[in-house]
Amino acid sequence: MNNRTSPATTAAGAITAGNAIATVAAAAATTTAAAAPAAARRHAPRPVPQPAKPPAVSRRWFLSRSAAATLGFAAAGAGTLAAAAAEKPARPPSPPPGGPPADPLAPAATPKFDGPADEAFWREVRSHFNIVGGLVFLNNGTLGPVPRPVRDTRARWDATLSDNPRDSFRQRELDAVRRRLAAFVNASPDEIAITRSTTEGLNIFARGLDWRPGDEVVIGSLEHFSATGAYQALEKRPGIKIVTAEIPLLPASPGEITAAYARAITPRTRVLVASHVSYVNGLIHPLAELAALAHRHGALLSVDGVQALGALPFDAAATGVDHYASGGQKWLLAGTGTGVFFLRKELQDQIIPLMGHHNPGERRGGPPSARRYEQNGQYNIPAAIGIGAAVDFQNAVGKQNIEARVRALGGCLRDGAAAIPGVSLLTPAAPALSAGITSLAIAGAAGADVIYALQTREGITVRGSRHKDADGIRVSTHFYNTPAGIDRLLAALRDIAKNPSSLPKAPRRGPA
Ligand SMILES: Cc1ncc(COP(=O)(O)O)c(C=O)c1O
Repeated sequence: MNNRTSPATTAAGAITAGNAIATVAAAAATTTAAAAPAAARRHAPRPVPQPAKPPAVSRRWFLSRSAAATLGFAAAGAGTLAAAAAEKPARPPSPPPGGPPADPLAPAATPKFDGPADEAFWREVRSHFNIVGGLVFLNNGTLGPVPRPVRDTRARWDATLSDNPRDSFRQRELDAVRRRLAAFVNASPDEIAITRSTTEGLNIFARGLDWRPGDEVVIGSLEHFSATGAYQALEKRPGIKIVTAEIPLLPASPGEITAAYARAITPRTRVLVASHVSYVNGLIHPLAELAALAHRHGALLSVDGVQALGALPFDAAATGVDHYASGGQKWLLAGTGTGVFFLRKELQDQIIPLMGHHNPGERRGGPPSARRYEQNGQYNIPAAIGIGAAVDFQNAVGKQNIEARVRALGGCLRDGAAAIPGVSLLTPAAPALSAGITSLAIAGAAGADVIYALQTREGITVRGSRHKDADGIRVSTHFYNTPAGIDRLLAALRDIAKNPSSLPKAPRRGPA
């Protein structure tokens, strides 16, 4: 396996490999300062329509809303529920002229993080997680932990709806979640739908296009089966063809990825499918270039964003992607059963909703909005509202801080691992190509056995990374991880690489 590594580089600038604690700490001060102006320019937000400022609130209005508010995002504890129940109006009061308050979520629970993004800052951020004692959790790429403000919001809404099922739709709150998501990805709220998973969002798009027999879709070879599966189902009916773009595990530049897609395009290509970040080895795909390539050929770009959203910024307007689907359970830290779906406005009358839809605005004769793609029927409201809390938590930590931290931790890991004899990186080191996911293999050791040894001997959780060219492990480093955790992993890898044949065999899973 080609073991290509560059000098230790991260978004933060040069970080020397070796002792992750010292190097991440040294990088932190320069990270935010250096990254901020460039990133701010890159992600200068397109103005997102915001709800009109509410008019001055009358005392009567305030008192009539207080019961609903105590049942809302800011509610805490049984006392408030009891108080609310005592005041509970039979019907929700009508809003005053000028509309309801702008933000029904108003999350009192979101912490504020101030000061430079140094180790003290990250300790404070980490204190909002309850990651079980002693666990070095480096598998965020499968399921992220949920920070307490998000967890509490989900629990509170579960209690609220259990105890007071008066309003089963909660559209005001869900609208507020859509607005938060729209601002988070620089889209318009009517380009956003709340879904339950990445897979759902990918299938809504794949199933909604007016396919003709013989149409082609180009899918990268490092895509997850959620993406390929959505199109495999269409191979039989209506008879489309899947063309695979062979993406190298270790391209030298983002241009190699774009070139692989370009080689696979034909006049029959309708869609390119790419991950923002590959689940196999964390390879970052150049979304703006792929969107431009698709559009030059009259095709659309559909993106699987679940290994990126919440770790790297995604700017829908700047990249020009047509469709982006993500779950919230990984890097966004929103918990299970959550998803985000973006579809460019101009495409919304081309993509037919998967299910008969219930978009009240459209039913009243208004234009389509992405709400038409949301599931029909009941919602998991606590999970959906938890997405809003997760976005608030991310904003409190700061997008630029998160990206810099993810890149700094990932860079230390890659540099440290590359220096261990017998370890091959399966992830390129260049910052344009990698961030929070690092895959690697140890000569003479099966990935499953390395995972087993790390878990049982060291309490370190990672996942496998299997590919036709490699059988390794995949390590995820999110902002709540610590340099000390990375040092522990590197020490364990050094031990294993010295004597891989002595590794105990992991119990193999039998046929299901
Ligand atoms: C790249 C990628 N796409 C899709 C999925 C499936 O996500 P979901 O469970 O949100 O549908 C995963 C999950 O591991 C993934 O890594």
